[in-house]
Amino acid sequence: VVKITAPRDPDRAAIRRIVAAAFGRDDEADIVEGVRAEGAILVELAAWKTPRRMVGHVLFTRMRCPDPRRRIAALGPVAVTPTVQRLGVGQALCRRGIDLCRALGAEAVVVLGHPDYYPRFGFSAEAVRMIESPFSGNPAFMALALKPGALDEPLKLDYPAAFG
Ligand SMILES: CC(C)(COP(=O)(O)OP(=O)(O)OC[C@H]1O[C@@H](n2cnc3c(N)ncnc32)[C@H](O)[C@@H]1OP(=O)(O)O)[C@@H](O)C(=O)NCCC(=O)NCCS
Repeated sequence: VVKITAPRDPDRAAIRRIVAAAFGRDDEADIVEGVRAEGAILVELAAWKTPRRMVGHVLFTRMRCPDPRRRIAALGPVAVTPTVQRLGVGQALCRRGIDLCRALGAEAVVVLGHPDYYPRFGFSAEAVRMIESPFSGNPAFMALALKPGALDEPLKLDYPAAFG
């Protein structure tokens, strides 16, 4: 059981540690900081084992989708401290984050992630068929419509520069 909160400025070092430890490299931690620097964060959550021990983190980025105008979020990276993986922390972070995106008016969420992990939240590769993005055609590229029909017409999605 973990507590999930929105992280605060002093938590940034812990976020960097957890994301880098989970992925075994710095790239994803750099993405988190880059999205933050661009002001493109829609939802960010941290999971706490104790009030001082952060064990997980998830980011949802506000995407640019001007034509047709859609409010779309991108999930990721999601990271759980290696010693605490496979205990439900990642799922709790993703579920809570998706709920918050919906509450904030997001019409859909996209993800570039493991095709075995994200379908449990409703993501599918079929849902991205109308989306033109740098990741189109990649089986790891999946989406979840939060509003019926949100992904039923062609749309072009721009990732923030932080995603490289
Ligand atoms: C992926 C990650 C966020 C999942 O969070 P978690 O808290 O460990 O996982 P949960 O307990 O929520 O879910 C467990 C299920 O996820 C799947 N899963 C978790 N880690 C997995 C992995 N490394 N490979 C494949 N499936 C995995 C399994 O289906 C697992 O179910 P099982 O334990 O019954 O086999 C976490 O393991 C992590 O930080 N991994 C390293 C970084 C990463 O790859 N992030 C995702 C990028 S798309």
